[in-house]
Amino acid sequence: MNITEKATTFAMSRQEGFDGGHDWSHSERVLNTARHIQKRESAGDLEVIELAAILHDIADTKFHKGSETDGGDMSYDFLVKNGIPAEKAEHIRSIINSLSFKNSLENTYEKSIEFQIVQDADRLDAMGAVGIARAFNYGGLKNRARYDPEIKPQTYTSTEEYKKSTAPTLNHFYEKLFLQKDLMNTKTGRELAEERHEYMLSYVERFKDEWRGIR
Ligand code: ADP
Ligand code: NI
Repeated sequence: MNITEKATTFAMSRQEGFDGGHDWSHSERVLNTARHIQKRESAGDLEVIELAAILHDIADTKFHKGSETDGGDMSYDFLVKNGIPAEKAEHIRSIINSLSFKNSLENTYEKSIEFQIVQDADRLDAMGAVGIARAFNYGGLKNRARYDPEIKPQTYTSTEEYKKSTAPTLNHFYEKLFLQKDLMNTKTGRELAEERHEYMLSYVERFKDEWRGIR
């Protein structure tokens, strides 16, 4: 087995039992999208991108009770043990940890092209048809309402406040998913995001119409 195959086996076993938003298939889609972006952009070290994509959610804090840096640290140990040079493993660790810190570190972290590509791929998986499925899967898991016209979408001022929210799943589109397209790092990411964005917009419009019985 080569290193990407070994990492895949490792991540698959780690993510067994994670919810439908973070099971191995999420990482696999991120891997495939990241490869696609890398090819179209002809930029970045493909191996770093692949390994970061494969390993990026092995310790998501929603399921893994520990610190936000556990995923990166576990990946680093795994990679070094499997012969990846320390410097390369360190880069992969920083990509994984910066992804899991969500937006908080965004202003201070210097984004390598490899980071930018994996982040675009990760964000794209929350958009479009698959993104819609993930959102309702998450809402179901948390027993949230799907839609309530009385509860307006909010702007969150802190991650804590955001995490505590019990708002209906449709609000998540306004609070997060519709904002994703403007956060893309790469040209290819932006192009893919544009299409997924339009798809979600028409979905939500139709959803509300059906809810009111007017379509
Ligand atoms: P990731 O780890 O992929 O960066 P998150 O952990 O924030 O993203 O979310 C995982 C998935 O669950 C995404 O598809 C996201 O849209 C969805 N999700 C997160 N929070 C909510 C929510 N409050 N309502 C509906 N879906 C959500
Ligand atoms: Ni992810």
